Amino acid sequence: MVSTQTTIGDFHFDNCLMNAAGVFCMTKDELAAIEQSAAGSFVTKTGTLTKREGNPKPRYADTALGSINSMGLPNFGYQYYLDYVIDLQKQDGSKPHFLSVVGMSPEETHHILKAVQASDYQGLVELNLSCPNVPGKPQIAYDFETTQNILQEVFTYYQKPLGLKLPPYFDMVHFDQAAQIFNQFPLTFVNCINSIGNGLVIEDEQAVIKPKNGFGGIGGDYVKPTALANVHAFYQRLKPSIRIVGTGGVKSGRDAFEHILCGASMVQLGTVLHQEGPEVFTRITAELKAIMKIKGYENLADFRGKLRYIND
Ligand code: SIN
Repeated sequence: MVSTQTTIGDFHFDNCLMNAAGVFCMTKDELAAIEQSAAGSFVTKTGTLTKREGNPKPRYADTALGSINSMGLPNFGYQYYLDYVIDLQKQDGSKPHFLSVVGMSPEETHHILKAVQASDYQGLVELNLSCPNVPGKPQIAYDFETTQNILQEVFTYYQKPLGLKLPPYFDMVHFDQAAQIFNQFPLTFVNCINSIGNGLVIEDEQAVIKPKNGFGGIGGDYVKPTALANVHAFYQRLKPSIRIVGTGGVKSGRDAFEHILCGASMVQLGTVLHQEGPEVFTRITAELKAIMKIKGYENLADFRGKLRYIND
């Protein structure tokens, strides 16, 4: 019997596929649609200290090979999402969830995480250190000193399961340096990758999105090789207790299979979910199971992280 069940920390998921933060997760109705789909879990839109309108529209565009967005973290404030996941966790049969959060400053991030720590929420939290779309705010995880300082402070008071949403890294030395920081802390997971920041897509003579003169995060087919490399680089470098969530360029069961082969314990769907809606989880789960059956794999552990290299 082929199974796509998985675990992250102490949490069990009936399916390893879920949405990526930013897609189908802004409102309670969207989150409910993911909850009722074949997805194993959902992650909320990243909640900030207070509600944000985000960047001016148009701020998302589908492209031939994926998407570009500069949403700018529009959201209803972390309390909206925290209340919803606490409500759901009281219901029988509820899936475990991921609450995504970040502040507009380290102080705001600590304020939010202290509130989550003090709340009844028992699920996972994903700290988003990688949004490329807030004008004037760099992607936090590209600044190793700030990242180290934030995590150092967070783990003085935060005792619930916590993971990080990471930007893509592009250099072996940066994989080493980032992993050296993450391995110092009791993180439950890292999520590789957020969009590739600050791309530019043009139609005729004009940028296709309005914010930042057209600069935005790139997702979809363009990013799969970068996502796979980041998943595998961190799978090789992080202590085994830090699980990897793979995100980027997944639009088929084969893509999900490749993320797991690189070391992912859970796989998130972004652009394809935006384009096809929550029914996509049924299709991609069936495709993944079909590949596993052909290869004789019964569960993810049979092939997770077992990427083969070409040896001399
Ligand atoms: C956004 O709201 O700009 C996208 C979220 C992210 O990239 O973290």
